[in-house]
Amino acid sequence: MKLPRQFFKPLAIGAPAPLRELPVRLERMIHFVPPHLEKLRAKVPQLVSEVDVVLGNLEDAIPADAKEAARDGFIAMARDNNFGTTGLWTRINALNSPWALDDLTAIVAAIGNKLDVVMLPKVDGAWDIHYLDQLLAQLEARHGVTKPILIHAILETAEGVNNVEAIASASPRMHGMSLGPADLAASRAMKTTRVGGGHPDYKVLADTAPGGSARAAYQQDLWHYTLGKMVDACAAAGIKPFYGPFGDFSDSEACEAQFRNAFLMGCAGAWSLHPTQVAIAKKVYSPDPGEVAFARKILDAMPDGTGAVMLDGKMQDDATWKQAKVVVDLARLVAAKDPAMGKIYGL
Ligand code: GLV
Ligand code: MG
Repeated sequence: MKLPRQFFKPLAIGAPAPLRELPVRLERMIHFVPPHLEKLRAKVPQLVSEVDVVLGNLEDAIPADAKEAARDGFIAMARDNNFGTTGLWTRINALNSPWALDDLTAIVAAIGNKLDVVMLPKVDGAWDIHYLDQLLAQLEARHGVTKPILIHAILETAEGVNNVEAIASASPRMHGMSLGPADLAASRAMKTTRVGGGHPDYKVLADTAPGGSARAAYQQDLWHYTLGKMVDACAAAGIKPFYGPFGDFSDSEACEAQFRNAFLMGCAGAWSLHPTQVAIAKKVYSPDPGEVAFARKILDAMPDGTGAVMLDGKMQDDATWKQAKVVVDLARLVAAKDPAMGKIYGL
């Protein structure tokens, strides 16, 4: 086992020291851009002011014969734009693919100092994180990168779910984790053909009623178990959990419901794969103004966060104070990025 003192030493001579705390950033949506398409790359300057994270996708959904073009396109879009406080991420190809090594060596060499996070797909265990951790440190050292590039894992294999706690705590480079429902469904041999969301046949039936009237059916959430397990693993390790993709672009209502369930359970954001999903993520992952107002009332009523008070007939104590602080801290982050929301929150 690695000893505590070793944990925060750089893994290569000349690499930047690992971070002890994650940077505090608003990451309500991770917006996917297919960087081999020049038309979509041209929209990046506009996107930077509209989204919290711009991600150049090199993995699934990029055709095999466009992998190099996507890598080059990502480097070009990273070079050509000023991202300010908006995050710049890339999703590299899986470690067992023919492209992952060149993705990393080319990207860190060209734009390592602009890159915030590498998203790693199909993570099965801590060993995948250790490999990437070491390789990133070597590349950072070689190319004079001054701040550590963080790692975000996609939880999308049955083996990964088995090892989720070890993955979350594998390295101080870990930023967070996203649920990947499409690959996870395939890995588990789930009998679905969807990218996230519910399924009408995954339900429980109400008891039979006297007289044989129709039985009510209640659709259940296919992802609740995994999401709960992932949120606990991330929270315990001090990293951020995210819901991943929602593939039915025609059903914004269901997308919003899936995003909201994840938000309520502790997730910080979700992926946006289509421009319409940016607004949905913004709405869901910015706290509700009514909730913010009530949370502020709790904080005001208990200035040192201890004791118990009654507010609108509801008991508040140290635990609700901490919940209120989560809501107000998030509202402050949103307000810093979006002054119009700040006004609505009164912050
Ligand atoms: C995302 O990569 C997924 O497989 O759902
Ligand atoms: Mg996937």
